[in-house]
Amino acid sequence: VRSALVMWTKTNVPELSKVSVLMKQRTKVEETLRAMQHAGAGNLQVISDFDMTLTRFAHCGKRVPTTHNILDHRILIDEDCTQKMRALLNFYYPIEIDASQTSEQKLPLMVEWWTKVHHLLIQQNIQRDMLAQAVRESGVILRDGYEVFFDRLAELQVPLLIFSAGVGDILEEVVRQSRVFHPNVHVISNYMDFDDHGVLRAFKGHLIHTFNKREGALLHAANLPELQGRPNVLLLGDSLGDLTMADGVAQPHHLLTVGFLNDQVEERKESYVEAFDIVLVKDETMEVPNGVLKFIT
Ligand code: TMP
Ligand code: MG
Repeated sequence: VRSALVMWTKTNVPELSKVSVLMKQRTKVEETLRAMQHAGAGNLQVISDFDMTLTRFAHCGKRVPTTHNILDHRILIDEDCTQKMRALLNFYYPIEIDASQTSEQKLPLMVEWWTKVHHLLIQQNIQRDMLAQAVRESGVILRDGYEVFFDRLAELQVPLLIFSAGVGDILEEVVRQSRVFHPNVHVISNYMDFDDHGVLRAFKGHLIHTFNKREGALLHAANLPELQGRPNVLLLGDSLGDLTMADGVAQPHHLLTVGFLNDQVEERKESYVEAFDIVLVKDETMEVPNGVLKFIT
């Protein structure tokens, strides 16, 4: 009976047989999937990171820009700011993904990175009216199959919380231009604060970086009325820091975590397989999340 059950699940989430999929405990994943299916869409919420999780890591051999990097457009910032932001990226990004350092060790350095970048941006007199054009011309692209993902969640009225350490205004514009900003989509991110002339003067609220999402979850997500009474969580991320995005969920029943392993694959494979239930290695698609959703709803 057991093997028949396993066979049954396997055939119903065929995407889990993709070569990009790694699972430490396949049986546990299958049990969680069945429990989530049993509870249904009414008990489900989806929490997802944005940059390099909902957006592709690379496309046609080129890196896809993060929300911060979309701001690197001459209509928004000058050459000097571009150079400085790139230098910071080259210094801090390797630290962000370094497998030999703990999140605790990285945390103060991430605060440094974000603070320096936001300080640079605030000096640029960025105009709100120009953001949409910068997004259109950025080459940003969501993962293949994103329409199915967003549309299905909207259809089922399952809330999708996008929890990003990127720039909220840019993120929203990307989702809007992709025509998937449905009413079930909620965003927690770093939002720009514009003055009466629509010029960037500051960033609002507490800074969110890659390794303090737990605080943001407890502060914001825990209070979103749309997320209450939905104890089952499908979580998507590309950083180990993203695993804390569900920490604001009161009395979670079942949590299924999916980690996109985009970069430094060999160095980080072991830690990702330990930390996430399902790891997707250099998989630029939403096929597995879509397969999981199809099964549990
Ligand atoms: P996320 O939480 O949506 O993934 O957004 C955070 C990502 O943004 C993180 O992986 C690092 C990246 N980032 C940049 O690309 N450029 C920057 O200047 C900063 C501060 C972060
Ligand atoms: Mg990310």
